[in-house]
Amino acid sequence: MRAIVLVGGFGTRLRPLTLHRPKQMLAVLDKPMIEWVAGWLGANGIDEVVLSLGYRPEAFTETYPDGRCAGVRLRYAVEPEPLDTAGAIRFAARAAGLHDAGEAFLVVNGDVITDLDIGELVALHRARRAEATIALTPVQDPSRYGVVPIGPDGRVEAFIEKPDRANAPSNWINAGTYVLEPSVVQRIADGRRVSIERETFPALVADCTLYALQSDAAWVDAGTAATYLSVQLDLARRTGWTAVRVEIDPSAVVDNSVLASGVVVGAGATVRGSVLGRGAVIGRAAIIEDSIIGEGAQIGAGCRLESLCVIGDAVHIEPGRHLRAELVPDPSS
Ligand code: GDD
Ligand code: MG
Repeated sequence: MRAIVLVGGFGTRLRPLTLHRPKQMLAVLDKPMIEWVAGWLGANGIDEVVLSLGYRPEAFTETYPDGRCAGVRLRYAVEPEPLDTAGAIRFAARAAGLHDAGEAFLVVNGDVITDLDIGELVALHRARRAEATIALTPVQDPSRYGVVPIGPDGRVEAFIEKPDRANAPSNWINAGTYVLEPSVVQRIADGRRVSIERETFPALVADCTLYALQSDAAWVDAGTAATYLSVQLDLARRTGWTAVRVEIDPSAVVDNSVLASGVVVGAGATVRGSVLGRGAVIGRAAIIEDSIIGEGAQIGAGCRLESLCVIGDAVHIEPGRHLRAELVPDPSS
């Protein structure tokens, strides 16, 4: 089976880290996010991936010049303009000939890190003779996802993208992994932005051809600062991952954190619940809590950063500053 991986978004919720590169090229522990996705697809028997590109496509083509990523073959489909999720699927499917290959293909959101069983999803898709089948995962707050109530046989009863918290009819949400028949591509209008979540899936619901499989496999959408931070802390704990080639002063405290190679932590500094990008430097007696520090950023002596600060690559923070929940540089200015 072949797969389209959607990686063309602007990554706005991860700014300023994504001002210069797509979110799927941000490091998760020691490798770019896209390699976690490609590795999972490869382990599930997918051998060819069409990357659906829009924002900064060269970040991918330059990193994988021989067209291989984590053991799978890559093809590239670069949109002339952002077409939204369904428009992107239509464009990539036609570019790679998936729309008339006569067999179902897979689509995944490129910011999801999971070990969901794709074989099980495909089996349900075939058993129900569905037109499309989507994986669902349970979450506490469904309001930032696509909410998907289903009947006893797995038929989707409604697809409600990002409802108010009070109006979400279920805690099971779209996990961003779909099996699609080529007929779905025919439903997507040409030449304009089309959202699979807001347009295509509701149309399939109306025709009773959309099915879903609930899964409790590990799953996270790493596309926000909070989840990009938490997924790395979780993976590091689960895999026993440890930093290499870092320089931590013996008087510093580093707790529940991910330090990429080349990080320097000065005397008396404290780092807790944080991710420090490659080559970041933490000054003497600085305190970094629940925050993300970009590659090569320098945090001055005595600074205190807390409550999900996100500091961009190569940014210097003057000594003694106290920042709470701040983005530097501020992407809105
Ligand atoms: N090629 C292309 N073109 N890709 C795009 C475009 C586009 O115009 N817009 C978004 N993408 C890519 C993003 O890069 C990302 O990998 C994927 O499509 C999903 O977009 P997000 O912006 O991350 O969507 P979301 O997280 O708000 O919501 C989606 O994912 C949730 C699960 O993670 C929806 O599918 C929800 O229904 C779902 O629950
Ligand atoms: Mg997302």
